[in-house]
Amino acid sequence: MPSSEKSDRAPVPVRSRIDERIEEVQKRKAEAELGGGEAAISRQKKRGKLTARERLEKLLDPGSFHETDMLARHRSHGFGIEGKRPYGDGVVTGWGTLEGRKVFVFAQDFTVFGGSLGEVHAEKICKILDLALETGAPVIGLNDSGGARIQEGAPSLAGYAYIFDRNVRASGVIPQISVILGPCAGGAVYSPAITDFVFMCEDTAHMFITGPEVIRAVTGEEVTHEELGGAMTHATKSGVAHFVGTDEEHTLSMVRFLMSFLPANNLEDPPYFAPSDDPERREMRLRELLPDTPNKAYDMGELIRLVVDDGELFEVHAHYAGNILTGFARLNGHVVGIVANQPKILAGTLDIDSSTKAARFVRFCDAFNIPLITFVDVPGFLPGTNQEYGGIIRHGAKLLYAFTEATVPRLTVIVRKAYGGAYLVMNSKHIRADISYAWPTAEIAVMGPEGAVNIIFRKELEKAADPAGRKAEMIEEYKTKFSNPFIAAERGYVDDVIEPEETRPQLIAALEMLLTKRETLPPRKHGNIPL
Ligand code: HXC
Repeated sequence: MPSSEKSDRAPVPVRSRIDERIEEVQKRKAEAELGGGEAAISRQKKRGKLTARERLEKLLDPGSFHETDMLARHRSHGFGIEGKRPYGDGVVTGWGTLEGRKVFVFAQDFTVFGGSLGEVHAEKICKILDLALETGAPVIGLNDSGGARIQEGAPSLAGYAYIFDRNVRASGVIPQISVILGPCAGGAVYSPAITDFVFMCEDTAHMFITGPEVIRAVTGEEVTHEELGGAMTHATKSGVAHFVGTDEEHTLSMVRFLMSFLPANNLEDPPYFAPSDDPERREMRLRELLPDTPNKAYDMGELIRLVVDDGELFEVHAHYAGNILTGFARLNGHVVGIVANQPKILAGTLDIDSSTKAARFVRFCDAFNIPLITFVDVPGFLPGTNQEYGGIIRHGAKLLYAFTEATVPRLTVIVRKAYGGAYLVMNSKHIRADISYAWPTAEIAVMGPEGAVNIIFRKELEKAADPAGRKAEMIEEYKTKFSNPFIAAERGYVDDVIEPEETRPQLIAALEMLLTKRETLPPRKHGNIPL
């Protein structure tokens, strides 16, 4: 264009228009940052809670958060909601990093309509879930919400369903973590329930399908919010909560710690950390750990801590079904999932709760390429009508199914008792454990000596002149024959009998041998786990 033409034009006030727009953007974003406003934030603080943004700051690496849909607003009418359209619509969404690794996040903002979920709020969460799934990164949801936004009606219900749908599609593809930091009621609980791990914060977090008022009206029962759906209730009684934090900061730091064990998605391996612990460390204290009498208890947690890197075991469901122990640890820097009977509680028997607890953990590890290490000291299934009527048959079958279908490297150490069906269930060689070790103290048998003698020699004992003396003799005979690992070793049911202090180096050697393991199951739509 000739320069004469250029000079004829009136000057366009480009700068000032941009400045105006920038100012407008900044104003709107500043408004969005405030959520429901100063007064609502101060009410949030009085409830002892952080704001959604403060929570994300504590969760993510500093300065790593990228927000999406900060300026989104609802488009609903009725009940006066059209006059109140705060930016962000009550949920802060985006992505950031955790120890440098990408994660997607959403944090419900209780200062806006009580964090209730309307159509736009749900759309924002769905966008995050879609991005997380498409890019193969974990998603962490911070929940603090009064549930479906009452003024919006059906679209908010539909919004929940769209979230559930995405949770299910993402299940087993990316890790999904739910952190409950306030109310979570009604059908809203089902998104956390579908995700892999639920964290709850003591005092402020509550989860229930119907609250105390409805329960009082329908059944006449009196129960407080805390008793009904507090963190410890769900950690000890229902098993809904896998982790409990004493306050929000503690809860979020536990989330960060958990994430250090998890891969970004099902196609990746879990993060490897160069170990400081000697892989050849022979831990002589393991020899002294088991009591001389087989019926005496000891702490399986202590045994595991003596074996794994730096004694670090991050227990999952630590407060629930303590007769089985599940958790993450490392062996020579490689993440492993630990499943172990805990003789301190219910003698380490398998019951309904311990079976479902361990089955879900095994399936998580299998979905996310985390090798499984099983420590066995199991006297059998817990007897009783409660267990039988409660369905120990189908619940125990879940654990059997979960171990059997797992294709990750699977290692087993039989420490002491390995009796009956429970022995088979606990990642035995017969259901394709890759490597199985037994300590010299292992007892692999159909049942314990006393029970066995009572059954097989009942008639003989009835006729014996000295039944007690004869029984003691028979028990000794049975013990010599069966209460040891040698028959199993002769048949190859265990790959080796190892001395306790060899456990760490042997497990590491076997694990590293198995890291290239590739096993596939027959093609099918999906198996039919006995739910
Ligand atoms: C719209 C809501 C809301 C909701 C709370 N608020 N819940 N707005 N929809 N569901 C608003 C309140 O009107 C209030 O607004 C603000 O959030 C804070 O609420 P408060 O009651 O002042 O706070 P607090 O005393 O701490 O009590 C929190 C609460 C209580 C326990 C969550 O608000 C409550 O019981 N809300 C209703 C819960 C509920 O029944 N939801 C529906 C569940 S059924 P102002 O403007 O006054 O600050 C459901 C179905 C899901 O969710 C189905 C999925 C399939």
